[in-house]
Amino acid sequence: MSSERLKFFVGVNTGYVTDGKLEQRFVDFYRRRSSPALHCAIVGNVVIPGGHGSNSRTPTISCASDWAKLAGEIARKGSLPGIQLSTTWEGYSGSRSFRSPAARETIGRARELVRELGPARIAAALRALDKASDIAVEAGFRHLQVHAAHGYLFSLLVDERLNEHASRVLKRLSEWAERHTAVGIETSIRISLRTGDSDFDAHGRNRFLAQMATLPFDFVDVSSGFYDIDKRLIYPGRPDVLKTRRTETIEFARNFPERRFILSGRALMQPDHDLPPNLHLGFCRDLVANPDYLTDQSRGCANSGKCHYFSRGGDHITCSQWANQA
Ligand SMILES: Cc1cc2nc3c(=O)[nH]c(=O)nc-3n(C[C@H](O)[C@H](O)[C@H](O)COP(=O)(O)O)c2cc1C
Ligand code: SF4
Repeated sequence: MSSERLKFFVGVNTGYVTDGKLEQRFVDFYRRRSSPALHCAIVGNVVIPGGHGSNSRTPTISCASDWAKLAGEIARKGSLPGIQLSTTWEGYSGSRSFRSPAARETIGRARELVRELGPARIAAALRALDKASDIAVEAGFRHLQVHAAHGYLFSLLVDERLNEHASRVLKRLSEWAERHTAVGIETSIRISLRTGDSDFDAHGRNRFLAQMATLPFDFVDVSSGFYDIDKRLIYPGRPDVLKTRRTETIEFARNFPERRFILSGRALMQPDHDLPPNLHLGFCRDLVANPDYLTDQSRGCANSGKCHYFSRGGDHITCSQWANQA
């Protein structure tokens, strides 16, 4: 494998949160998976001040010392501490099923939601993102990610197919990224290649992807799917879905050789000789299953689906492979 390819632990919502506070096992989970082999651990789905979580066990960034402890432990183990900043909206409740029965209404509801929020509340969400990132930097995080994937609020706001004022949001996000780059903080934006609604995805997708790739973020972290349309695209398991995710990510990266991208979807399951040099590697389930996966690929994710705790009615992550570990 090419040694310059950076490796990221991409966002994972662990549920290791009680009353909005990080539990000790939250810190232990990230400490155990951070190492000099991992460029950056991006702590998943952290809510911005005044924002709304994707479930009741999603943490909100704050000045509490737990956040500095978390960033400090990741750094001490040899990885760059990263954080994914996100919000949903008042009354949001994620679908528990993999293919939401209400999927066909999701796009229409998203457009309505953005219209109802209006420019003032959208501007407030962007100010909350500023505040979140300042708190995160103060706590020691050195990679900041905007979660603009999976149908959460920022993914609706950046897409002109859903938000007629998307260009204003893109301008604000560009300024946000440049402000952090200027002081040496790495930045990324996570986006979805597709929503999973085939009618919607059939129009304007290339233009949307081009807009995302030309924003001044250091990395575009490439995911796919909207949570309330088709979760199979978010966590691909079937070989055909994995293959499509990989092929589309490679094509996207090839189209924008000056931008760096992060590939996920069992990133090491296939040889990497077909990957363009601007594509870096993101890991989630293999590293969940085996914290030492980057140095020992003999054990990884067994695709059992047990970690989808929210869809399964559980309240924190678990893995069928943990019982097998020494
Ligand atoms: C249990 C679980 C929780 C996840 N939580 C998040 C999250 O909080 N934010 C996010 O962007 N992606 C989340 N994902 C998606 C992963 O970041 C990743 O993109 C996906 O699992 C595909 O990569 P993999 O094949 O290496 O697992 C989650 C995935 C799993 C399995
Ligand atoms: S629970 Fe199953 S699908 Fe999830 S990481 Fe573990 S082995 Fe993979």
